[in-house]
Amino acid sequence: WGFGSEREVRRVVAGYRERGLPLSVLHLDIDHYDAHRVFTVDRERFPALPGLAKELRDEGVRLVSIVDPAVKAAPGDAVFDAGVALGERGAYVRDARGRVVVGEVWPGACVYPDFTDPVVREWWGSLYEERLAQGFSGLWHDMNEPVSFTAFGDPSLPRSARHVLEGAGGDHREAHNVYGLAMARAGYEGLLRLRPAERPFLFSRSGWAGMQRYGGTWSGDVSTGWPGLRASLSLVLGLGLCGVPYSGPDVGGFDGFPSPELYLRWFQLGAYLPLFRTHSAIDAGRREPWEFGPEVLEHARGALVERDRLHPYFVTLSHVARLSGAPYVRPVWWAAPGDRALRGCEDAFLLGDALLVAPVMESGAERRVVRLPRGRWYDTATGRAYEGPGPVVVDAPLSRIPVLARAGAVIPVRDADGELELEGGAPAPGAVGRRAAVAAWVDAAAEGEADDETDDKAD
Ligand code: NOJ
Repeated sequence: WGFGSEREVRRVVAGYRERGLPLSVLHLDIDHYDAHRVFTVDRERFPALPGLAKELRDEGVRLVSIVDPAVKAAPGDAVFDAGVALGERGAYVRDARGRVVVGEVWPGACVYPDFTDPVVREWWGSLYEERLAQGFSGLWHDMNEPVSFTAFGDPSLPRSARHVLEGAGGDHREAHNVYGLAMARAGYEGLLRLRPAERPFLFSRSGWAGMQRYGGTWSGDVSTGWPGLRASLSLVLGLGLCGVPYSGPDVGGFDGFPSPELYLRWFQLGAYLPLFRTHSAIDAGRREPWEFGPEVLEHARGALVERDRLHPYFVTLSHVARLSGAPYVRPVWWAAPGDRALRGCEDAFLLGDALLVAPVMESGAERRVVRLPRGRWYDTATGRAYEGPGPVVVDAPLSRIPVLARAGAVIPVRDADGELELEGGAPAPGAVGRRAAVAAWVDAAAEGEADDETDDKAD
């Protein structure tokens, strides 16, 4: 929150570039809107957003737009008027007496599209044409519990508010939990209609079971502090087990000012989570890696460069998630469900089945215990081999968090020229059988040596 002008966006992008920090996306918050109204742009601060977006896109940096569901109740406003005129009853949620419910959000008095109505979803999805025309590549749905600021009581719609609920009809008690899910569906389906050749990129603060069909989610306003860092990992692990594989935290926490150490440790964790972005409230300082001193900058660079290198592995894990439901981020027991000692392990995780990531989640720690599943694991920084099962103590200097590779695992990475490369960890000594055989085959294929016979074997 705070990339509120073209100048600021350019300053931040240049800051990454000048310091050799990889950057793939900036997320523009409500401060790029005109008076906080959805589907608008502040033309004074962003006089030529489509041009800026194109220029950045050509340099490999995309823009994502926040989208809030609440529409300013302002007759004469194009979006508001179109919603009023939609279909037989209009787009907006009404109360039991048929009056449109008016709440309070960033732009002031607001009304709420009823996403549980298929007609409203289609209309809302069509509004994303404006976002695409502004040059945005993806959408970030926010405030879609939905929020209404109130001095007391539920900060949401009144329980008696009526919803279409796919034709069944019902009140807000039934609609509340599916509101964000239905908004995600509207956005996802709209993007697919508008831009059929591209996969929609969308994540949403609110959602419900099934939201992974439309996108991911993030921590929301996670508190700045070590407990917030720990909660970030629990959130991603728990959501993954609930079928929502794509999520991540506001690195550095949303409110307050993280210490350099806390920021760095959060950054290092975030680099191994599916959604990796820094973010904070407008009054909580900056979250760029150079804001915390030269030491943090250097180590954050290391984490960013590694994240960039692992990009093909993340893409692979996204396909695995789509095909099988297995999340990118898995509890350590995933590797050995029979190992009871791993069941309570909440301070480490598997990234796919090749890497074991052990973030530092307390102040002052420069070593930590890592509980390993069965097998041999290599510290990817030192090459040192550890044998599981059982706890081992691993170095965790400020420069990095421990990441261990399973012996024999093969992961796709980007090499220094940006080309795809397969990286194979040495198998455990004497390991024969399927894992080693597959690893050998993948190596051979990478060298272009695979013949038809090995192809059949791999099939
Ligand atoms: C609440 C969101 O959780 C936060 O990420 C965002 O910055 C603010 N709304 C302002 O849009």
